[in-house]
Amino acid sequence: MFDKTTTAEQVLDAYSNLSRHKTVLITGCNCGIGYETAKQFYRGGACVIMLCRSEDKMLAAKDNIISEVSNENNSCGTIECMKLDVSSNKSVKNLVEQWSTRSDTSIDTLILNAGVSCIPLSYTEDGQESTFATNHLGHFALALLLLPFMKTKATHGVESRIITISSSAHKTGEIAFDDFNWKSRWYGIGNRAYNDSKLANILFTRELHRRLKRCGKSEDIVAVSLDPGFIYTEIGRHSLMIKLYSFFAYNKYVPITIGAATTMYCALCPEIKGGLYFKDCAEETPYEKVLNDKVECELFDVSELITGVKFPFSEQ
Ligand SMILES: NC(=O)c1ccc[n+]([C@@H]2O[C@H](COP(=O)([O-])OP(=O)(O)OC[C@H]3O[C@@H](n4cnc5c(N)ncnc54)[C@H](OP(=O)(O)O)[C@@H]3O)[C@@H](O)[C@H]2O)c1
Repeated sequence: MFDKTTTAEQVLDAYSNLSRHKTVLITGCNCGIGYETAKQFYRGGACVIMLCRSEDKMLAAKDNIISEVSNENNSCGTIECMKLDVSSNKSVKNLVEQWSTRSDTSIDTLILNAGVSCIPLSYTEDGQESTFATNHLGHFALALLLLPFMKTKATHGVESRIITISSSAHKTGEIAFDDFNWKSRWYGIGNRAYNDSKLANILFTRELHRRLKRCGKSEDIVAVSLDPGFIYTEIGRHSLMIKLYSFFAYNKYVPITIGAATTMYCALCPEIKGGLYFKDCAEETPYEKVLNDKVECELFDVSELITGVKFPFSEQ
């Protein structure tokens, strides 16, 4: 039904009644793929919660979404803004604390979308390399802390979903347990740190699914990861090299609305199974050489240790 030319609008239209009134949290959605995803969910009548680090950018994006969608004269949803710097353990914990005081805390869909790529080597306030902290550790902590709020009763026949935006860059990633902070490896322009973090996204999802399964929760909370494709966004803004490459490779990019399609598909398609990886609105096998159950389990344990955030459910 869908393929690599499918747009986010087409996925939404196919499952239009399924997005209505869903509570959808999206990290890093003031621009790029996240913005398009937030817009489509709003268009589809969802209660969208934008989680962004810059309040100004977030409010401007919210206004833009509302004006773009209301021009279409649809019965749209709602949008709320909550500040989150996903690279900061403190900010993640503050956000969850704030969330827990709401009158309705239940979540249908959590989209772990924020990302940085090819940034100069830097460290967060928690002492972690910034790419790994933003793309993996922060999302790991956020997902685990929000797990108790994920709905355990399906809305419109679709159970709750945790969707992590990975990339085909995972194929050349590695999980360097002895050097997450790039003290002994050559960091270069940061592309290898990006690849590692995108591999971590997939391995985290697979292990999260396994742990949910052992607790009897994998039917209620479905965790998947995906590759959105090659989309011209602001992801290359930190690197002159990537900007140059983007300029020359411009005709290889797909429109942003296609870039958000697989996220919409993973959120709305009733038949999605946990632990899997998707691309072009279909299941895809991640690069098999980088998959390893033992590494996935160890990465999960180490991420718990680094962030101080534990998987909240006990095994049955
Ligand atoms: N574009 C592609 O071709 C492509 C391909 C494969 C995978 N992806 C993945 O798709 C996702 C979205 O990327 P994009 O292409 O849409 O890039 P983008 O336009 O640069 O958007 C990235 C978003 O993440 C936010 N962000 C960065 N660091 C953050 C932090 N510490 N806390 C909260 N938000 C933060 C950015 O906010 P600011 O504006 O404040 O920086 C921005 O909203 C990423 O996970 C990326 O790895 C993209």
